[in-house]
Amino acid sequence: MSAVPTAVPTVALAGVHGFGRTYVERLTARHRAGRLRWTAAADPRLAAGEVPPGMPGDVAAHRDLADLLAHHRPDVVALATPLHTHADLAAAALRAGSDVLLEKPATTGLEEFTTLQRIAEECGRQVQVGFQSLGSDAPAHVRARIAAGRIGSVTGYAAGGCWQRPRSYFTRADWAGRRRLGDRVVADGVLTNPLAHAVATALAVADRRGADDVVSVLVDPHRVNDIETDDTTAVRVGLRDSPGLVLAGTLAASEAGEPFVVARGTGGRITLYYTLDVVVEEVPGRPPLVSRHDRTDLLDDLLEHRASGRPLLSPLAGSGAFTRVLDAIVGGPAPRPVDPVRVRAVDLPGGDRRLELPGVEEAVAAVLETHRTFTELGVDWTR
Ligand SMILES: NC(=O)c1ccc[n+]([C@@H]2O[C@H](COP(=O)([O-])OP(=O)(O)OC[C@H]3O[C@@H](n4cnc5c(N)ncnc54)[C@H](O)[C@@H]3O)[C@@H](O)[C@H]2O)c1
Repeated sequence: MSAVPTAVPTVALAGVHGFGRTYVERLTARHRAGRLRWTAAADPRLAAGEVPPGMPGDVAAHRDLADLLAHHRPDVVALATPLHTHADLAAAALRAGSDVLLEKPATTGLEEFTTLQRIAEECGRQVQVGFQSLGSDAPAHVRARIAAGRIGSVTGYAAGGCWQRPRSYFTRADWAGRRRLGDRVVADGVLTNPLAHAVATALAVADRRGADDVVSVLVDPHRVNDIETDDTTAVRVGLRDSPGLVLAGTLAASEAGEPFVVARGTGGRITLYYTLDVVVEEVPGRPPLVSRHDRTDLLDDLLEHRASGRPLLSPLAGSGAFTRVLDAIVGGPAPRPVDPVRVRAVDLPGGDRRLELPGVEEAVAAVLETHRTFTELGVDWTR
C-alpha cells in the first residue's frame, strides 16, 4: 500500500534522543503550525518512558520502527537513528509506502546504498539525505562564481576541519567510535560521521555527487583516542573530469575552528564555511568578497517535493560519491594509533576528559594546502 499525498502530511520519527532532538523540535514546531501531523515516534528509550522535552503528548510512542509501521502509515518517516541502522530502517519505511528523510550518512557501504536506491525506485518513493549543508544556496553560489571565471581555472578542492570531542562522545552509545558492531559496518570515522558534511559539501561544490564521479580514493587514517575507528584522517579523492579533492580532519584539536570547503584556482580561491552558509571569495589585489546565503530545511524541502514535485536538494543519488568515499574509508586500512606520549589530556567538568594532539592543526592545514596525506608529508605520530 503506498501513501497518497494528503493536504497535511503525516510524519513519523525514529530516534528521538541524541541528534533526534533537533527533529523533535522541528517536527513539534511544524505540527503546532499545522504544516504536518506528527503521528508517531519509535525509540526504545522513548518506549521505556524517556520522553524528550517539548514532544507533543499526542504522538504515539513505539519501541521500534517495525511496531510503528504495524500501526501507522506515515507519509514521511524521518530517521535519526545510529548509522548502521539506516539501510534496514529506510528500506522498511519505503516498503511501507513512506518517503524518507534519512540522517547522514545514508548507508555505511556502497552495496547497501545501491540496494536502497533500487528499493526506493521499486517503491516509487523518495529518500532525502540529511546533509543540511546541501539545503544551503551557498554551494550553488560557489559553483556559479567558479563558472563565471572568478578564480581562473580550478586547480583543486580541499575540505576539512579541526574539532574536539570528549571521551563521553565515544562512550555515549555502543556504536560510537566503532568501525563495526557485530556483523554491521558502523563507519563512525571523523570524515564519515562528524565531519561528513565537509566531504559531501566539497563534492557538491565540485559538482561531482554521483557514485561514478569518484575514480580513486587514498585513505590515511589515524587515531588519537582509544577507539576502533579513526579520529584524525587525510583522504585524497580523484574525481572524474575534474581537479582532485583532498580531505583532512581531526577530533583531537587543541584549538577547534570552523570547518570549510575551499576551491583553489589559478586566479584566487573561494572558501565556503558550510555550517554558517558564508562564502569568502579572495582574488589577489582585490578586497575579499563575503556573502551569506539562505538555507532550506531538508524536511520542508521534502514536503515541498511531495506537494509540487520540485527536485530534492539532497536526494539519495546525490550521496553516491560520498558513499564511495565512505566505502573506501571503511574498507581501507585500520587507523594507526598515535603514540600516547604525543597526546595531551585535558580534564573537563563532570569527570570527562578530552585528548589533544599538539600540532595536528598545522598538519591538517598542510594536507589541505599540498594535497598530500599526513604520511606523504612525513608526519609520523606512531612513535
Ligand atoms: N546532520 C547532523 O548535523 C548530525 C549531527 C549529529 C548526528 N547526526 C546523525 O544522527 C544520527 C543519530 O546519531 P546520534 O549521535 O544522535 O546517535 P545516538 O546513539 O546518540 O542517538 C540515537 C537515538 O536513536 C535511538 N535508536 C537506536 N536504535 C534505534 C532503532 N533501531 N529504532 C529507533 N530508535 C533507535 C536511540 O535510543 C537514541 O535515542 C546518525 O545518523 C548521525 O550521523 C547528524
